Amino acid sequence: MVKVAPSILSADFARLGEEVRRVQEAGADWVHVDVMDGVFVPNLTIGPEVIKALRPHAQIPFDVHLMIEMPERYIERFVECGADYITVHVEASHDIPGVLDMIRRAGRRAGLSLNPDTNLAKVEPYLQDLDLLLVMSVQPGFSGQTFRPEVLSKIARARELRDSLGLRFDIEVDGGINRDTGRSCAEAGATVLAAGSALFRSRDMATEIALWHDF
Ligand code: DX5
Ligand code: ZN
Repeated sequence: MVKVAPSILSADFARLGEEVRRVQEAGADWVHVDVMDGVFVPNLTIGPEVIKALRPHAQIPFDVHLMIEMPERYIERFVECGADYITVHVEASHDIPGVLDMIRRAGRRAGLSLNPDTNLAKVEPYLQDLDLLLVMSVQPGFSGQTFRPEVLSKIARARELRDSLGLRFDIEVDGGINRDTGRSCAEAGATVLAAGSALFRSRDMATEIALWHDF
């Protein structure tokens, strides 16, 4: 069964607590939280104080996707606010082993993400240190973009590598995921689907998530 992680970037920001409860009630596996710094990506979203306020509204894991430069500066803050998975971008830090180690030493799950134009080879040296590989299927920064089908082969290759190395990290795909692209990603080997627009704009989030679980 593939896991589903609704991205609250597409939620109603005036009612975020309620939206996080709605995500959990709809049967989501994780809550995906997009953190942007206006430098790594040309957009600003939420930070640790908001995550801390939202944390009591759901018991499922918070999957925190850091789209920030030099994430090592803020790992402690994201640990304190209750993030369960903390994912950094391979393009955003000069010390990937150090930052992954900080996350794991704090008892949190460590994730590494790569942009659509970044080669899988960039993350290969770190695969054995990961709980999660987050494959971006759009250029990070905004919700509502179109899925880039060329990432399917990257997902398949990541899955092949994972299995051949006997590793167990999750492979999450993020950006432009809907019924069709989500199914293709699951078939290519993704184990987690993150999605904003398609889930928050669906008629019934629970029905949609149940359908995706079966991909
Ligand atoms: C994009 C974010 C995504 C985004 C997904 O930078 O990392 O998580 O919220 O939104 P959709 O599913 O609308 O592409
Ligand atoms: Zn994201």
